[in-house]
Amino acid sequence: MPILTPAVDEYLAAHRAPPDDLLAEMEAHGERDRVPIVPPETGELLHVLARATGARRILEVGTAIGVSTLYLARALPADGLLVSFEIDAERHAAATSYLDRAGLAERVDLRLQDARAGLAALDGAWDLAFVDAAKGEYATYLDEILRLLRPGGLVVADNALMSGTVATGEADSTWPQALVDTGRAFVDHVLGHPELTATVLPVGDGVALAVRR
Ligand SMILES: C[S@@+](CC[C@H](N)C(=O)[O-])C[C@H]1O[C@@H](n2cnc3c(N)ncnc32)[C@H](O)[C@@H]1O
Repeated sequence: MPILTPAVDEYLAAHRAPPDDLLAEMEAHGERDRVPIVPPETGELLHVLARATGARRILEVGTAIGVSTLYLARALPADGLLVSFEIDAERHAAATSYLDRAGLAERVDLRLQDARAGLAALDGAWDLAFVDAAKGEYATYLDEILRLLRPGGLVVADNALMSGTVATGEADSTWPQALVDTGRAFVDHVLGHPELTATVLPVGDGVALAVRR
C-alpha cells in the first residue's frame, strides 16, 4: 500500500520515465512470480544516492532477481564493484542472467550466500550498503555493515515504514505484528545509533538513510 496520498503517488508516477525493456521485463517477472522488488521510486532514489555520493564499492543484502542491483550497478563507474547476497538459488540465477544482459557482469559480484556469513567474511572500506532482505535480521546486517563502511559512507534500508504500520504500530495484511514490532525497533535503533546520522524518508515502503560518522 502506498504511504503517500493517492494523488501524490499518481502525480509522481506520471512524471516518472518509463522503464527500459530490461527493467520492464524484470518488473513483470517480479509481478508474475510474486518476488518482492523495490518500486521505481525507491530504485531511482538508490541510483541517485549512489551517483551523488560517487560510490565505487557497494554492498547489497537481498538481491532477489536483481532489480535494485540494476539501479545501483548502473550508477557505478566502469571500475566500480557491487557485491550482493541472496539465499534463493532460483532468484540468484535470474539476477545473474539479467545483470549479464545489462552489460554489468564485470561490475557485479552476485553471491549465493547468507548475507550474515557473507558480510562477516568481507573486509575493506565500502561506500554504500543497501539492506533489503529478512526484516528480522536487519540489526545483524547493520552491525556487520558498520564494520565495513568507511566514515561518511551511507547505509540505506528498505521497508523502514512497512506500509505505514511502523508508524501506527498496528499490523496489516502484509506485515504481521512481530515484523511491525521489529521494524519499529530497527527505526529506533538506526535513529539513535551513536555511529550514525540518520533519517527516514516516506519513499516507496519507507527508506531509512544513515551516514556513518
Ligand atoms: C525484498 S527481496 C529483495 C529485493 C531486491 N532488493 C530488489 O528490490 O530487487 C529480499 C530477498 O532477500 C533474500 N534473503 C532473505 N534472507 C537473506 C539472507 N540472510 N541473506 C541473503 N539473502 C536473504 C530473500 O531470499 C529475498 O529474495
